[in-house]
Amino acid sequence: MSLPTASHVRQQFLDFFASKGHHIVPSAPIVVKDDPTLLFINSGMAPFKDYFLGNKPAPYKRIADTQKCLRVSGKHNDLEEVGYDTYHHTMFEMLGNWSFGDYFKKEAIAWAWELLTEVFKLDKDRLYVTYFEGDTGDNLGADTETQELWRQYTTDDRILPGNKKDNFWEMGDTGPCGPCTEIHIDLRSEEERAQKSGRELVNADHPQVVEVWNNVFMEFQRLADKSLVKLPAQHVDTGMGFERLMMAVSGVKSNYDTDVFQPLIQFIAKEVGVEYHGTAPATVNDQPATENEKTDIAIRVIADHIRTIAFTIADGQLPSNVKAGYVIRRILRRAVRYAFSSLNQKQPFLFKLVPVLADQMAGIFPELKQQTAFVQRVIEEEEISFLKTLENGLRRIDALEESTRANGSRIDGKTAFELSDTFGFPLDLTALIAREKGLTVDEEGFKQELEEQKKRSRNAQETEQSDWTIVADTDEQPAFVGYDLDAAPAHILRYRKTTAKGKTEYQVVLDQTAFYAESGGQVGDTGFLEGDFATLRVVDTKKENDLIVHTVLDLPEDLTGEFMTRPDAARRTQIRQNHSATHLLQAALREVLGAHVQQKGSLVNEKLLRFDFSHFTKVTDDQLRQIERIVNEKIRQQIPLEERRNVPIAEAKNLGAMALFGEKYGEFVRVITFDKDYSVELCGGLHVPNTGSIGYLKITTESAVGAGVRRIEAVTGAGAEAYVDQQLDLLTQVRETLGNPQHLITSIEKQNEEIAALRKQIEQFAQQSINQQKEQLVGQVKPLNSVNFLAAQVQASSADALKTLAFNLRQALPNLVAVLGAEIDGKPQLAVMLDDEIAKGGKLNATTLVRELAKEIQGGGGGQPFFATAGGKNVAGLPAAIAKAEELVGKGLA
Ligand code: ALA
Repeated sequence: MSLPTASHVRQQFLDFFASKGHHIVPSAPIVVKDDPTLLFINSGMAPFKDYFLGNKPAPYKRIADTQKCLRVSGKHNDLEEVGYDTYHHTMFEMLGNWSFGDYFKKEAIAWAWELLTEVFKLDKDRLYVTYFEGDTGDNLGADTETQELWRQYTTDDRILPGNKKDNFWEMGDTGPCGPCTEIHIDLRSEEERAQKSGRELVNADHPQVVEVWNNVFMEFQRLADKSLVKLPAQHVDTGMGFERLMMAVSGVKSNYDTDVFQPLIQFIAKEVGVEYHGTAPATVNDQPATENEKTDIAIRVIADHIRTIAFTIADGQLPSNVKAGYVIRRILRRAVRYAFSSLNQKQPFLFKLVPVLADQMAGIFPELKQQTAFVQRVIEEEEISFLKTLENGLRRIDALEESTRANGSRIDGKTAFELSDTFGFPLDLTALIAREKGLTVDEEGFKQELEEQKKRSRNAQETEQSDWTIVADTDEQPAFVGYDLDAAPAHILRYRKTTAKGKTEYQVVLDQTAFYAESGGQVGDTGFLEGDFATLRVVDTKKENDLIVHTVLDLPEDLTGEFMTRPDAARRTQIRQNHSATHLLQAALREVLGAHVQQKGSLVNEKLLRFDFSHFTKVTDDQLRQIERIVNEKIRQQIPLEERRNVPIAEAKNLGAMALFGEKYGEFVRVITFDKDYSVELCGGLHVPNTGSIGYLKITTESAVGAGVRRIEAVTGAGAEAYVDQQLDLLTQVRETLGNPQHLITSIEKQNEEIAALRKQIEQFAQQSINQQKEQLVGQVKPLNSVNFLAAQVQASSADALKTLAFNLRQALPNLVAVLGAEIDGKPQLAVMLDDEIAKGGKLNATTLVRELAKEIQGGGGGQPFFATAGGKNVAGLPAAIAKAEELVGKGLA
């Protein structure tokens, strides 16, 4: 049987909603910027949050798309289930249709039914629907309207009430929410269905009775104080799990048996030489019962995780130790661990899957195909480093196994925490390995340790934030007018209070502002809000979705008057210079290094610019010079800025404008050009009117940030001048220190030669001195019991010289026990040397002896049985140490 292809089914969905007047948009990047409440897009509606909240008008009343989503952190988190069952995923596509203040329950329900039963031809008898039963805590009644609507399409025994957990959808702890209706499908065999009604299995975690589509009727907003308020309008937000829909239309029993996963699964199976059998444990908490189950789980984990890993990296999120980067690193490590222990992959492996996935998705998400080599490189490096960690950590767990069994088979929280902290083993990984060994982990104990560490770290202090207080209401979208104006009058629309590290600040949103909010790498403006009776200092400006949020230190009592928004002009000039210079730099990098150079991050502030880009080798000094020359040439050419706003995205791309992977662009974009044949970029930042105002650019550093990513830092204008001055001052100081020679380099070379010659002489003298002393010392040797004993204070210029003397003596004299003391750089030093035979005999040990003697010089040391040294603090104790040596050696041999 040939399976329906993913691209065909996806297209059917999009075409259906296009035919119902929906505008089809591309998926937003999976990594979220500008939203402090979310790391990744976790549902199809997340990119449209502002439209629901009324912060921004929707450009279309009806939209449909397929959105890349990730549910691995925060409120919606499915990571643990992934791989064990056959229908949860980390990354998944959510097909969605939206109404922004347009149609509501009636149409949404009618179309959902039509699409599933008439286009996808799913069996009506297998579908179950739910509606919200109400909740007393939230003071909400049952959604009988939805219940009634469903009665037109299906029978009462297929319409089920559901509680707040299942039938009241909320985006996060705060944000838009509302009652929902879910559509579930029963994909079991006829026999199974005859035995037990699907109705009983809805929302019961059955792998073949699953939710496929959720239709949310957004009417409320959940506030930080947990209360609900009505939204300004009613909306529809739907989400259909594409992978589950594929399972339903393919008539198979697992998402992994569809065209979405099969190419990956087949590739993995072939690559590791293991067949995929499609088995799964009965429940997620069950151990794999057979070898087949074990390898099947691992193959599913990898086929699932590679999608998350590859797409987040392609969207610009590199694995790291913090926030979103850490989530990705953990998922990658989970996949490596399964490949390592269940599929015996001891070498990097995941990176090989990227081209397969890229080909599969090229039609709908081309960003992966466009960056295959880069994504592969990042993954491979991560794999290499984690495989090393894994070896060490596994050895540690093996070593723990016995003692853990003796202590009730539970790995204690402290150890689990140490594994995570020191070996980079996340708790879920430790738990997994433990589970396979029949052990458990004290997860509570782990959490306590983690909490304590957080308490210890000063950064862990929580930020508290109140809800917005509305000062004035407006339907207008607050505007940023700072492209054209350096100052602009404004009114406060809303404010809230934030407390972090015991410091209280306020945040305000204005009806318009000249302040630039941090984005696209450019820092936010600082400056003042000047009112008639109060001037407020703005310490930062940030975006929250599309709101421009100004952080101020104080609020006056009267918030209703007019305030002049006045960003710091001098600072802004420097920021403009650095931002425009970044564009010139990017173009020069591509010219010198090649078109593979893609921006991977940037920072533009008043002091410097920092630009991260994909490139696999160090940029050589010559290349850096060349890049700098090109940029400075462009600066001297005084190229005027060409700024175009509201350019249709397709037109901008036709102009060859550089876009950023992982950046969310609207349909209309701003295009910044400095010479249409040199630098054209999509950009929302602030720029100089003419490249001449940048003055001069100087690259200060070039370094590696991670696998395949290099970083350049540079300064411009007055900053570059200051940097060059500093470097020249340094040179002057060097010259002066050397006595102002005529030829600086010749003079340094001469000095180096002199130093080398002097060193050689010193070494010769030291050698001579050692030889002389050796001759004298040989004469001082006396028999003690059956050995040749020598203890003396000698002259040595270094610990090495003392060692050489000891070794020379041993060569010269058989059966020797020598204890040498010396004052080196004002400190006492001891060396004990034993003839090999004596050391092997075991009666004397150089390490034990030197430690005992070191007490006399207030010190300590160690070494091997035949040779050991010690340093100390008390030079005056040297004679005593030497005297004691005879006594101890005498005793030891007695
Ligand atoms: N936003 C809804 C969900 O994710 C459709 O289930």
